[in-house]
Amino acid sequence: MAVERTLIILKPDAVQRKLCGEIIRRIENKGLNIVGMKMTQIPVATAEQHYAEHAGKGFFKDLVAFMTGSKVVLLAVEGDEAIGLMRTLMGKTKFTDAAPGTIRGDYAYSFTENLIHGSDSPESAARELKLFFPEL
Ligand code: RTP
Ligand code: MG
Repeated sequence: MAVERTLIILKPDAVQRKLCGEIIRRIENKGLNIVGMKMTQIPVATAEQHYAEHAGKGFFKDLVAFMTGSKVVLLAVEGDEAIGLMRTLMGKTKFTDAAPGTIRGDYAYSFTENLIHGSDSPESAARELKLFFPEL
């Protein structure tokens, strides 16, 4: 087992719906370690960089507008296989596919506004952590 770090974003809808505590509780209860946490409003240029893989797709503009519209909570999360484990806790991207018991399965009801971001690979995690937690 490899200790990994992953970049988690509690998206604007999680902050507005007061679900940050519930989501952080799930991360901590699973035994993962939060090694960085901050609240911020993401600048447009940073959001475009973060989601660069989706540039040009039909949903890109809406996604960037949503992610930069109000404050988010950024988390650096560490633990054994933290990247895949967080993706499991999050559930599938689309609210209709996410299984009950997952964060999105239990709380999301929108495709764009789906509460949480998690890095999807070691390469993404390294890139995203550098973008949002350069101090780590
Ligand atoms: P994330 O990057 O935020 O962790 O989400 P993900 O890996 O599960 O999904 P991804 O394919 O990377 O999509 C990024 C985010 O874009 C929004 N989205 N909207 N309306 C649409 O067709 C659509 N498709 C994706 C979601 O907010 C998704 O989480
Ligand atoms: Mg993604």
